[in-house]
Amino acid sequence: MKNFEFFNPVKILFGEGQIDMITQELLPYQTVLLTYGGGSIKRNGVYDKVISALKGKKVLEFGGIEPNPRYETLIKAVKLARENNVDFLLAVGGGSVIDGTKFIVASIPFEGEPWDILTKGIKVEKAVPFGTVLTLPATGSEMNAGAVISREATKEKYAFGSPAVYPKFSVLDPTTTYSLPQNQVANGVVDAFAHVLEQYLTYPSNSPIQDRFAEGILQTLIEVGPKTLENPTDYDLRANFMWSCTMALNGLISTGVPTDWATHMIGHELTAFFGLDHGVTLAIIYPALLTEMVEFKKEKLLQYGSRVWNLNGENLTPERAIEETEKFFRGLGVKTRLPEHGISFADTKPIVDRFAARGWKMGENKNITSDIVEKILKRAA
Ligand code: NZQ
Ligand code: ZN
Repeated sequence: MKNFEFFNPVKILFGEGQIDMITQELLPYQTVLLTYGGGSIKRNGVYDKVISALKGKKVLEFGGIEPNPRYETLIKAVKLARENNVDFLLAVGGGSVIDGTKFIVASIPFEGEPWDILTKGIKVEKAVPFGTVLTLPATGSEMNAGAVISREATKEKYAFGSPAVYPKFSVLDPTTTYSLPQNQVANGVVDAFAHVLEQYLTYPSNSPIQDRFAEGILQTLIEVGPKTLENPTDYDLRANFMWSCTMALNGLISTGVPTDWATHMIGHELTAFFGLDHGVTLAIIYPALLTEMVEFKKEKLLQYGSRVWNLNGENLTPERAIEETEKFFRGLGVKTRLPEHGISFADTKPIVDRFAARGWKMGENKNITSDIVEKILKRAA
């Protein structure tokens, strides 16, 4: 096991009715900026519950944060918050609203051009405090310190992270997810599953406790994912799905182990260029990447095949484990090949060019360069 630091200060308020707890959490604050997306919270009643919990506060609103939140939109919220001396933000929505709010809270006190936080790796030291009400289990953003922001004008999508942007608290009320469309639930299962794989399917590192945590989350997603798709208002299924997604990317399972993240980096480019949902990009890239990198991931693939997919005997091969993974994604109704989205291998050339220009070396062995990205995209076509 490698040396590590583990710190996670996010208070989780889990369960039905916990939106009411916001009142207590906000006692020290006066002016709250409520951030949300395209309006799902107004249709499913979550907005009304939040407004009622904010009684007595000065509340400003900033709606319209789009999926894959855009710099062009978020910068308007930064202006609004600065002009009104907002001292707390409350993000109500999915990963996009939460990520967008992380960018807003980091940008408010930032002197300079906030986009530089994303492209120049400038350290975020200060941020306005914020909390979240999660309505879409998927990204883990509610309990981590990362965010991914897009810029429409240049078709770019970049991540940043800083301990300054951990939420103060996150409300996880499974009933807020009952209104999710099926494809978003499926995206969420794929995203959380991929988060675990990124931190698990690398090479053995004598970390059996982390492996078992990871396998436990994968097995739970396999168990509850398809069921919660079919039974959207089954509380216990949603609760287990929701908590699995949070645990998949809150820092716990990556302690002391190598991590990959190349699928995410390539997936972000598919979103940036073609607008595909984040979860959809992962379902396309993951099987292709595992196949391309099988030589380097053989041992963990066998462990995964055996412990997660119960493969044994002559069925226990890295290839079969990859097949099971792709079958699982497809079983959730998520397509796993580029042409199924009308994208050809030739269309992906700008992605390869972008990685070549950046000179990135990705993956747990730092050996996924632009030429390997090209091979992965070819396999996905
Ligand atoms: O905008 P509204 O109207 O709220 O509708 C949203 C949106 O259209 C809808 N939705 C959310 N909750 C709902 C609901 N509809 C009905 N009922 C509800 N309860 O779902 C749509 C998608 O929402 P979005 O927030 O975009 O989805 P998701 O949570 O999958 O977030 C995706 C974003 O997170 C980033 C992705 O790159 C992408 O930009 N990620 C963030 C990570 C992080 N911060 O750690 C890690 C991830 O790997 C990922 O990269
Ligand atoms: Zn993800």
